[in-house]
Amino acid sequence: MIAYLNGRFMPKKDICIPVDDRGFLFSDSLYEVIRYYPGHLFRPDAHIRRLNHGAGHLALSCTDFSCLIPVVRDLIRRNDMASRDALVYIHVTRGCAPRNHPFPSPAPDPTIYVCVTPFDPGAREHRRKTGIQAITVPDIRWARCDMKTTGLTANVLANQQAVENNADEAIFVRDGVLMEGTHSNFMAVFDNTVITAPLSNYILGGITRETVLDLCRDLGIRTAESPIYTSRIHLASELIVTGTTLEVTPIVTLDGRPVRNGSPGPTTRALQAAFKKRILF
Ligand code: PDD
Repeated sequence: MIAYLNGRFMPKKDICIPVDDRGFLFSDSLYEVIRYYPGHLFRPDAHIRRLNHGAGHLALSCTDFSCLIPVVRDLIRRNDMASRDALVYIHVTRGCAPRNHPFPSPAPDPTIYVCVTPFDPGAREHRRKTGIQAITVPDIRWARCDMKTTGLTANVLANQQAVENNADEAIFVRDGVLMEGTHSNFMAVFDNTVITAPLSNYILGGITRETVLDLCRDLGIRTAESPIYTSRIHLASELIVTGTTLEVTPIVTLDGRPVRNGSPGPTTRALQAAFKKRILF
C-alpha cells in the first residue's frame, strides 16, 4: 500500500513519524475520512472545508488543505483502487517540536499523512437493511466537538461500551439531550419530521448529515434542527445514524428497547434510496 507523508508518496510500511510529533504527544491534530465510491470521491470539497475550519481554530501553520484533493486522487490511482470502494484518511498534526504545551515558535510545518484503505460495503449494506442496535452513554467529551480532532478517547471508550453490550453504536447524551454517535450523527423521526441536533460546538457538522437534510428537502420531508430529549425518545417512530462509513443506517433498538417494531421505517428507506442516487453524482 502506498501512502503519503509530507509531500512524498511511499510504501505505508516505511512511514515513520517522530515521537516528538504533537499529534502523538498531545492529540494536537485533526483528521478526515472521505468515502471513495468506484469512480469518484464523495464531497471531497466539503471534507477539506471542515479540515480547514479545524486548522483555522487550532491556528496551524497551514489552514488550506485543498492541495490534498489531487494527492488523494493520485493515491487512489497509485494503489490501483480506482474501480473499488475505499476510505481515505487524512491526518494533519501541528508538527514536531520538543514537548511543551504552548504552540511551538517558530511554528513547525504540519505533519500531513494520507492513506487509502479498501472498504467492504457488503457488511454495511446488510446493517443498513436490518438496522443496528445502539446504546446511550453520558457525553464526557470536551466542548469543541465541531473540530474533527484525533482526541477520540471518549469516543473509543463509548464505542467499546457499545460492543460490550452487543451494540454497534453509542449515542452521547448531554444534559438529557441525544447529541450524536461516536462516529455518526443522530436523527429521529417524530410526526413525520426528521429532527437532528442543531450545529454547535457539541457536535460534528457531518457531511452526511448535511446531505441527508438536503435530501429531506428534495423529498418534501419536514426537518428541524432542534434538541432530541431522552425523555421523549420513546415517541420517535424511527431513529437513524448518518456518517461517511454508515451512510444512512437505521437504529432498531436503543438501550435494548425496540424502535417501531424493530424494523427500519419508511422515512429511513426513502432517505437511503435518495442517498444511493446522490452517491452517483
Ligand atoms: N466519523 N460525528 C462524529 C463524532 C464522527 O466521528 C463522524 C464521522 C460523524 C459523521 O460525519 P460525516 O458524515 O462527515 O462522516 C459525526 C468518521 C467517519 C470516523 O471517525 O471514522
